[in-house]
Amino acid sequence: MSLGQKTFFIETFGCQMNVHDSEKVIGTLISQGYRQVDSVEQAELIFYNTCSIRDKAEQKVFHRLADFKKLREQGKKFAVIGCVAQQEGEKIFQRAPHVSLVAGSASYRNLPQMLVQIEAGQRATGLDDRQSGETFETEFTARSNPHRGYITIIEGCDKFCAYCVVPYTRGKERSRTSGSVLNEARQMAESGYTEIQLLGQNVNSYLDPSEKKSFAELLAAIGEIPGIRRVRFTTSHPRDFTRDIVEAIDSVPALCDHVHLPVQSGSSRVLANMSREYTREQYLDRIALIKAAKKRRISITTDVIVGFPGETEAEFEETLSLLDEVGYDGIFSFKYSARPNTPALKYADGIPEEEKWRRLQALNAKQREIQIVRFGSHLGEKIEVMVEGSNVARSQLIGRTSQNKTLNFTVPAGAAAPALGGYAQVLVTRTLPNSLVGEMVS
Ligand code: SAH
Ligand code: SF4
Ligand code: F3S
Repeated sequence: MSLGQKTFFIETFGCQMNVHDSEKVIGTLISQGYRQVDSVEQAELIFYNTCSIRDKAEQKVFHRLADFKKLREQGKKFAVIGCVAQQEGEKIFQRAPHVSLVAGSASYRNLPQMLVQIEAGQRATGLDDRQSGETFETEFTARSNPHRGYITIIEGCDKFCAYCVVPYTRGKERSRTSGSVLNEARQMAESGYTEIQLLGQNVNSYLDPSEKKSFAELLAAIGEIPGIRRVRFTTSHPRDFTRDIVEAIDSVPALCDHVHLPVQSGSSRVLANMSREYTREQYLDRIALIKAAKKRRISITTDVIVGFPGETEAEFEETLSLLDEVGYDGIFSFKYSARPNTPALKYADGIPEEEKWRRLQALNAKQREIQIVRFGSHLGEKIEVMVEGSNVARSQLIGRTSQNKTLNFTVPAGAAAPALGGYAQVLVTRTLPNSLVGEMVS
């Protein structure tokens, strides 16, 4: 331990929102005089930024806390933040008495005060729930990547899908002003960032408190900042997905050719029980808007839940046929997991675990076939990638396309390799179900 500086370790579970929240929490801790270390053993203060989207995710933090229970005697303090913290609240102190701090994401702006409390040997809580109308904005974001970075534009969720904990764990929807978002984006561009990913549980609900810009206008304005070459955004909700978003992508070159539009199910009856507020047909209308882009071929990805209570075999097959109809470039698939406090708990007709497994595997097998064809269609194309890493064993660089596909490539002998975070033009020479392979061209 160095010169009286307080040390902390943080482990993050869950979605990109959590990853980015951790960057802001790390920045805040550093601004309060703490130093980040790489292991629990080295740290005085240990943070777990938690996820409770599915039961398995929730259990992870309790396993960690059980593993490290003994360390309290060495003077270490534990903090549980994020979605499990908000969901379980003070019950966490009962279950894990060695925890000093429990805070949900809507309370992070009070972290400095909470740190003072726990340093004084007290317990601190930040369980604002759905009261707060404020967002967590800080000048101390410690971004982990110097080339592409996240910006939160909207926090919370007001959709209350029947299966989902997020409206309870992240509180009510609150947007940042477009001016504040644009300032952050400009600062990032000035410090060398070329890719920006806008975040929100439901970015299409973005509502500028200063009433200056719609979501599509904000997207376009960020795409026009000098130095910004790529803008991504996630997640979109089909209910609020509008034509002007597609028009922005079609007309502003920096907006990436990719929309993630979670469908959850291909059956209108299941969608109604999920409270998704759209039918299969209405979802397909949104897909048609995306496919109607004139200048760009926009890739589409989605999230699917299999085995929602009462989902019949025929309804599951409607999801399979939807995959064919849309032609997704990627899916994230999940088995339904019953979550505390959610309306879906009222449905008694649960699907057995083995049957959920079978459906998940059938879904993924179907999607694999689709991806073989879709990734195959890139053979012979010349595509721009951002260099995101390298695979030394295979002497390849790892690139990402605007469509969000991985394109691993070699650099021809004699040519200079592009730097990490740089861009390269790559000719696709081979295609796989989940990635592309190619060679850099000048
Ligand atoms: N706000 C985003 C993402 C929410 S969480 C959206 O609305 O799309 C990411 C995904 O987790 C969801 O899209 C859904 O597919 C899945 N998910 C959420 N709750 C779940 C649950 N109880 N069981 C299984 N999967 C769930
Ligand atoms: Fe959850 Fe639905 Fe909100 Fe997404 S839109 S975070 S699935 S409640
Ligand atoms: Fe998990 Fe909370 Fe994100 S539940 S998926 S960390 S919003």
